[in-house]
Amino acid sequence: MNWHNRYIQQAGWTRDLRSYLFDKAGLDRAHRVLEVGCGTGAILADLQTSASLHGLDLDPAALTECRIHAPAAALTRGNGLALPYANESFNIVFCHFFLLWVHDPLQTLLEMKRVTKQNGHILALAEPDYSHRVDKPDELARLGQWQTESLQRQGADVSLGARLADLFFQAGIKIVETGAIQRRGNEAFSPDEREQEWAVLSADLAGIVTGEEIRKLKRLDETAWRNGERVLNVPTYFAWGQV
Ligand SMILES: C[S@@+](CC[C@H](N)C(=O)[O-])C[C@H]1O[C@@H](n2cnc3c(N)ncnc32)[C@H](O)[C@@H]1O
Repeated sequence: MNWHNRYIQQAGWTRDLRSYLFDKAGLDRAHRVLEVGCGTGAILADLQTSASLHGLDLDPAALTECRIHAPAAALTRGNGLALPYANESFNIVFCHFFLLWVHDPLQTLLEMKRVTKQNGHILALAEPDYSHRVDKPDELARLGQWQTESLQRQGADVSLGARLADLFFQAGIKIVETGAIQRRGNEAFSPDEREQEWAVLSADLAGIVTGEEIRKLKRLDETAWRNGERVLNVPTYFAWGQV
């Protein structure tokens, strides 16, 4: 599984929203910007700014890749639960498909708030709610269930997205704007994106579902897409807050 390709695909889903939120948060005037849980750098590499960029992640392998994709960023191996930065160090602190993976998202948001300057911005750009995933036709619903269960086994809080605004509130971060990310219509899932989805699914389901079952569902999925009957929606939320 090429995780960087997956993160680039997810970054494509949030491009318009990121452009809007970073503009509102004053990226062009920011001096220091931090991504918590930066992974392989899919988002950091895409930021057009003269600010000094910082990325933090637990996974050394992800940081090694991040160094290639976002060479301008200062990278640190660390834990979002205890950020190794001084109070009020950044103008913008953000994350992207991240809080669902930490075991204490409230503590992580409190840390993000602590290292953000007065009047600075905190952006949680994309947090999914797999518990409300919709798959049509109905035969494909178990595909969604399997994937959700697999994410749970890997440690994800699959309904984090639904709690995002509440977590900001609990952390004492003043919410400026929050909502669901507008996805493009189903028809805009290209064949390449579908192949990528299946690569993720096959990796997620390995050892849980037989190869034959996976192939059968993939055929059903392909037919449904071809016939214009496929619906796949994972509600995904963002929150923009100010300190
Ligand atoms: C789904 S990836 C997202 C990467 C990147 N934000 C993106 O969207 O391309 C989640 C990342 O969070 C990192 N991560 C998980 N728990 C963490 C923690 N407690 N502290 C720091 N990083 C963590 C993982 O290593 C992984 O790189």
